[in-house]
Parts: sequence; C-alpha cells; structure tokens
Amino acid sequence: MSRTKAAPPRIDLRSDTVTKPCPDMLAAMSSAEVGDDVICSDPTVESLQAKIAEILGKEAAVFMPSGSMANQIGVRLHCQPGDEFLCESECHIYMYEQGAFAQLSGLVPKLLPGTHGVLTPDQFLRAINPVDDHALRSALVTLENTHNRGGGVVQPMDSVSEICTWAHENGLKTHLDGARLFNAVVASGYSAEEWASDFDTVSVCFSKGLGAPVGSALVGNGEAMVKARRIRKLFGGGMRQVGFLAAAALYALENNIDSLRQDHDWAKQLATSAVRRDGLFVDREPETNIVLVRVDPELGTPAGLCDALEKKEIGSFPFGADRIRLVTHRDLTQGQIDEACDVMERVEF
Ligand SMILES: Cc1ncc(COP(=O)(O)O)c(C=O)c1O
Repeated sequence: MSRTKAAPPRIDLRSDTVTKPCPDMLAAMSSAEVGDDVICSDPTVESLQAKIAEILGKEAAVFMPSGSMANQIGVRLHCQPGDEFLCESECHIYMYEQGAFAQLSGLVPKLLPGTHGVLTPDQFLRAINPVDDHALRSALVTLENTHNRGGGVVQPMDSVSEICTWAHENGLKTHLDGARLFNAVVASGYSAEEWASDFDTVSVCFSKGLGAPVGSALVGNGEAMVKARRIRKLFGGGMRQVGFLAAAALYALENNIDSLRQDHDWAKQLATSAVRRDGLFVDREPETNIVLVRVDPELGTPAGLCDALEKKEIGSFPFGADRIRLVTHRDLTQGQIDEACDVMERVEF
C-alpha cells in the first residue's frame, strides 16, 4: 500500500489499521504500570504476553512493534541462512515485507500458488527438497489466516491440520501469520487455541481490526520465545516503557474481539452493493472484513474506481491489476457503510 494523501478520507475503507484508540483505551494506556522492558521487564507487557499466550494455548509470547517483525522473527527462529521456507505465493511475508527473510536472515521462499490464498495439502507433497548438498534445506511452512490478498479468506481447518502434520512428519517447522487470526476465530467458530494448535509459532496483530494503535505478538514455546526476544533486540525491536502500548493491546483483547462480527457483516453488505453496479464483480463473498472488488477492464481501471470513490470521500486501495480492496473496521458507522454502499451501486468512473 502506498501513502497517497495527507488527509484521511471521511469514510476510510483503505485498511483496518486506520482505527484510533477510543477514550477508554486511551485511559487504560495512560494509567498503565510500566518498566524498562529491555533491561528487566515491564509489568503490563508481562500481563499481555501471558494473556495472549494463554489465549493461543502456547507457553509464552513476546510483544513486538509490528506484524512484519513478528513474522520475520518467526521465520528466522526456525531457519538457518541458506534454508528455504514454503509459503503461498501471495502471502504477506513474501509480498509485503521487502523480502526481509532474505535481507535479514539469508532465506529463500518456495512459492506455491494458492486459490484465494488457500493451499491444498497435496501441493506440498512434491515441494520439499531432497537432502542433498546441491539443494536448499526445506525448513519451514508458513500459512496466513485470514489471508489478506485472498480477500480475508479463512483457511480450511482440515487442510491447515493436514499441512502442518505433513510438515512436522517431514522435519519442517510451522509458522502462522495470524495478523487477523481473531477475524478467523469470529468467522469460523474455532477458538484461537484451535487455530494455533498445529503451529510452532503464531504472530497476531493488535493494531488491525482489534483497534490498538501499535503492536503484535509472537507466540510459541518457552525456549523459542527466549530466542525470539534475543532476535527482537537484534532487529531493533527492544522497547522500553512499552507497557503503555501493551495496555492498549490488553484493552483490545478484552473488549474488541466481538465487534469484528460487525465488520464482517459490513463487508458482506459492501460486496452485495458492489455487484449491483454493472462491470463490478466480487469473486468470493467476503467471510471476514476484506472485500475485493474486480473491475471489468472495458469499464475502467482499479485506480480510476478508487479516484471516483475518493471524490465521494471514500478511501480504498487499488489491489493488483484488476481489483480494489475495501476493508471494514470498528471506526466506521452503519451510516457510513450505507453511504458507501449507495455510492458503489452507482459510481461513475
Ligand atoms: C496478513 C498480514 N500479515 C502481516 C502484516 C504486517 O503487519 P504490520 O503492518 O504491523 O507490520 C499485515 C499488515 O497489513 C498483514 O495484512
């Protein structure tokens, strides 16, 4: 995503990262008990790490400044320079993190083409390299749930389990990019612990639909998290009185998960309206909070559609060659969604 304008659009559907802390979240932040989390520990960070580890059914967690850092540390933990990891070809780790796995850790991705971000277990069977001095060592499988470029798709639980079981049986580790894992929880009815259970490490973001201003966590076993903390320092992610931010994440976990349901309903409403406009298509009904609207090339371009929406004070992003992305979140209102739907149905571009 590139930054285009200084002032945010009135109805901001560009991302679920645009939310601002509500007054109660700010109050929780300003009253947080803090310490120096690099020198020793910060009590609010400790509470957050214990809570998110418990929610995901793992031994420990490490608070991180961003989802990208949590993913890159997850990948680094399981691999050595010269290893490869197997991932879906449009996943965030590959597409949107500047190839940090190569720049920072000397790793190579093996890209498997998914359908709306979903891979099938049989795609992995021939993907692993033989143990051979010529070949990269296949060390890790990463999956993404929900899948951003897939349009917020929830991974099928059975496939996830089968893929992870295959990985472990073949000596590979597993990492889940769960930036929007709680959207998957709300949409699927499976708990966060169930989704996390097949993975060695899981990253989760507090700064997306959950509405915190900053922050992610990497979760896994105790030994892995000791190493993760050390790599976080190497990557420049050691933070001092960061309990102020951990307090926002704790508030989000305690108060903001249920409202994701509303975001998902709004996404469905937007999709229904978009397809009423001739030449606009939604290839898969949104399951969570991301709507991908495909533009008939005879009608116009994604950039043209985004410009037309912007003139109506609606923010969106072009997304690949023929689509735009709309994302719903807790800072929108029903009135704004109704207005956006109205515009989508008759937008001229
Ligand atoms: C699926 C996914 N993973 C990871 C990230 C990275 O999060 P951050 O922006 O906090 O680095 C994002 C951000 O949008 C994402 O969509």
